[in-house]
Amino acid sequence: MSRDISRRTFLTASVLAVGVGAASPAGASPGRCGDHPWCAPGLSPDERANLLLRELTLPEKISLLGGDELGGGAGFPGTHTGTGHGVERVGMPTVRYGDGPIGARQGNGTAMPATIALAATFDPDAAFHYGATVANEIKCKGNDVVFGPTVDIVRTPLAGRMFEGFGEDPYLTSRLGVAWINGAHGEGLIVCVKHFAAYNQEGVLGVVGSRMTYNAVVDQRTLREIHLPPFEAAVREAGAGAVMGSYNRLNGQYACENQWLLNDLLKHEWGFPGYTIADYAATRNTANSLTNGLDFEPWPALVYSPPAISAALATSQASTADVDDHVRRILRTMFAHGLFGRPPFPDDDALIDQDGHLATATRIAEQGITLLANDGLLPLDANSLQGKKIALIGDAADRFVQGGGSSSVTPFTFVTPRHGIEQRAGSEITVAYHPGRVPEAAAAAVRDADIAVVFAADLQSEFVDKTGLDIDAGLLSFPPPGTGNPFVDQDAVIAAVLAANPNTVVVLETGGPVLTPWRHRARALVQAWYPGAGGGAALARVLFGDVDPGGRLPVTFPEREADLPTAGDPEMYPGVGEDVHYKEGVFVGYRHYDAAGIEPAFPFGHGLSYTTFDYRDLRVDGMSVSFSVTNTGRRRGFAVPQLYLGLLSPGPGVRQPPKQLKGFRKISLAAGETTRVTFALTERDLSYWDETRGTWRISPGRYTVMVGDSSRDIRLST
Ligand code: BGC
Repeated sequence: MSRDISRRTFLTASVLAVGVGAASPAGASPGRCGDHPWCAPGLSPDERANLLLRELTLPEKISLLGGDELGGGAGFPGTHTGTGHGVERVGMPTVRYGDGPIGARQGNGTAMPATIALAATFDPDAAFHYGATVANEIKCKGNDVVFGPTVDIVRTPLAGRMFEGFGEDPYLTSRLGVAWINGAHGEGLIVCVKHFAAYNQEGVLGVVGSRMTYNAVVDQRTLREIHLPPFEAAVREAGAGAVMGSYNRLNGQYACENQWLLNDLLKHEWGFPGYTIADYAATRNTANSLTNGLDFEPWPALVYSPPAISAALATSQASTADVDDHVRRILRTMFAHGLFGRPPFPDDDALIDQDGHLATATRIAEQGITLLANDGLLPLDANSLQGKKIALIGDAADRFVQGGGSSSVTPFTFVTPRHGIEQRAGSEITVAYHPGRVPEAAAAAVRDADIAVVFAADLQSEFVDKTGLDIDAGLLSFPPPGTGNPFVDQDAVIAAVLAANPNTVVVLETGGPVLTPWRHRARALVQAWYPGAGGGAALARVLFGDVDPGGRLPVTFPEREADLPTAGDPEMYPGVGEDVHYKEGVFVGYRHYDAAGIEPAFPFGHGLSYTTFDYRDLRVDGMSVSFSVTNTGRRRGFAVPQLYLGLLSPGPGVRQPPKQLKGFRKISLAAGETTRVTFALTERDLSYWDETRGTWRISPGRYTVMVGDSSRDIRLST
């Protein structure tokens, strides 16, 4: 997989020049394979894997199916998230695994903006550089496989890990996921995309509807159209070498022993030649996993411990052919990704271009920061603010905000919003900070300010879903470290600041949608997500208009929690008994709001620019859709035209969402500039999954083609 950086518009050449490719390239010095027959160049990965497989003893093969890193997942320097020892006798190297997906989690790393912020860039180039940066650091820490990206769809924004994924739309998730993987492949790593499949919740308090036990009851059409496309694209299009099975069950069988999911679909129908990896402690039964397609259990090797596997073989619950198939897949992937042919990647932080990576994280954060509302207060004008005062309220302004669990990163360094704004404002503008823990104090601190910026953050985390959609929900179960007092009513603080100072900007650092009951009183509302190590600098640049806010929502912000697609029916969420019924079907995210005629607070695809755009001249020519976009304002800005299709219903049993995203483009246009945008549709874009025939089908007839600035701001249609 070679990297084509010539077309990339996302970063400047200077940023591109750093950061990637820091460790020694594959093949620079002799590999680890030696002169065994399977080391001969010119043989295919399959031929080499088969030759080596014949040489391995049964105990050796069995030892390859389980991991050897007991401290896996702890994130300590010098340890790896996972390790699979090789077999020295045959020149088979050890494989090391690292989390993923937001940065390296082994000692310190560059904290990238959360994946949801990357999704908000609507920019595959940004995703490419993101994947390259994460993978580079994981490589520089001596790993061969990156656990990421996470491509699970946001079925409910209450899900504790929704910040780790790309939002609610399968098309957006697929396009950005593929670009991420391509970037990581440029670093020579094996990509392990996760978590397969229908892994959409942690459970309330991690107990009711727990990820460890719930059974996702999902029909084929919903799987094929909504939850599986990002995985299909990751393995078929991007060539991801590994897939991580999730904790939950899917239609009755645990994902890591699911015959249909791992064998029938992934390996046979999709032709996946790589290997499947169990999530940590996601396995249950040795024989079921051996026979139903699980290739490797990284940690701890309990279900795939040598005694457990030997017992399954001795009792004929699994066969040596099963073991061979798993080993062959691991070997084949190692050969295909060049592991035998190169020396191990050294574990050395000195190889990491920390400054370059921080610059990349900052650029991506800028691109993902989403301006939800603005009546002209933004951008701030540094000249007219000379001698004046900006008051920053809320401790989220003064700390590094990120999500919890296995994707959290201990940053090398970070820029808080307070620091970024102070730097940008310079010495002639007073920037005052107040933690604003009680509404009265917050109001008092902004009364004499010319501009108030009030910050609020939530804490999403692996292991536990949010208990509600208000900003503070969830904080009680996991108070963020360093906040001093987590018992702050942030909505009350925002309301008090809005009442005390009319020139208030609200900045949210949340991993996803929250309720914004005060929003009609805010002159400007900025969604900064978990913005990563450079987030404060990025935010300052957006607030002062040094860069146009590039973000668009990858997930709908509802008006009320009761509007969520899964609201009001415990069988849908968090589940009753162990079953979670995906009754919403394909009506996930904006598909639900559109079909039910519910007005969201902020729709999917929404995000303002500091300039305005005009769309005209829509033409549909066969499978090609084109139109013109003009920047009609007075400054350069980002347009993100989005193409939605309204598919035809083939009959009463098959309801179609009013709109489905099938194209998007991120374009920077100077004032007055016009560009022509063309989207090439594929047959799949027009297809729905026919449950009765078990295949993709196109319903003949006329389709609605819509082009807009968001899913609710359709500018052209035909
Ligand atoms: C997570 C995975 C992660 C693994 C190793 C699990 O709890 O679900 O995403 O890769 O831990 O840290």
